[in-house]
Amino acid sequence: MDMTPQRWLETSDYLRSVFGPLGEPIDGRLAGLMDRAVAAGLPSIAVSADVGRLLMVLASVAAGSRTEGGPRALEIGTLGGFSGLWIARGLGPAGRLITIEAEASHAAFARTEFAAAGMADRVELRLGKGLEVLPRLHAEFGPGSFDLVFLDAIKSEYRAYAEQAAGLLRPGGLLVADNCLGASWWITDAPGSDPGRDAVDAFNRWISTPASGFLACCVANREGLVVARKC
Ligand SMILES: C[S@@+](CC[C@H](N)C(=O)[O-])C[C@H]1O[C@@H](n2cnc3c(N)ncnc32)[C@H](O)[C@@H]1O
Repeated sequence: MDMTPQRWLETSDYLRSVFGPLGEPIDGRLAGLMDRAVAAGLPSIAVSADVGRLLMVLASVAAGSRTEGGPRALEIGTLGGFSGLWIARGLGPAGRLITIEAEASHAAFARTEFAAAGMADRVELRLGKGLEVLPRLHAEFGPGSFDLVFLDAIKSEYRAYAEQAAGLLRPGGLLVADNCLGASWWITDAPGSDPGRDAVDAFNRWISTPASGFLACCVANREGLVVARKC
């Protein structure tokens, strides 16, 4: 099959135009969120809407297979709340998302957006660094208490996040990680050309083996998402 860079770009555009638009009823808050975020000085580094839709579907699958209690998801890297709102939608009204953000200004913006979207009761933001907040969540909620974990903060910390998240996820729960093919680098760049590339490459190679305790694949959508089921 012809998968030239041109084809790849066309495919990305196609995905965005067909799977990007918001579902009905159209949520005006979500549609305009990143424009408001950029106007408020946040960087434009959220997932695209088609990836948001993928997160929503995965969250709904993870929520649907929970056998008792309300579904629970965790996100590391909130930014303005764009991906978090998609995940919260997928969890449904009984669900709860805990999202971790290290930057106070991003956290304040996201809190406003969660409230304005009517999701304040479904989404709880924890201000802090992922690797510091995760052990506190272990102590608070206990093992196997989450159905889905989404990684989207510091790429060189992905393996450390995943190892801690493994304890929080129930068997069959999903770990999803953004930027597993690229960010400011691309995965096929030469090893050693970028520390972020090398760290994500090492994460990909680890999570794809049985030793990780996950059954993983990579969705080559936009900048690539690893989707992994906890064994
Ligand atoms: C790529 S953005 C997240 C985008 C968001 N998930 C979305 O798609 O809407 C990464 C975010 O992680 C935050 N961050 C950076 N270091 C962090 C850390 N150690 N722990 C938690 N969040 C961190 C950044 O401030 C930034 O807001």
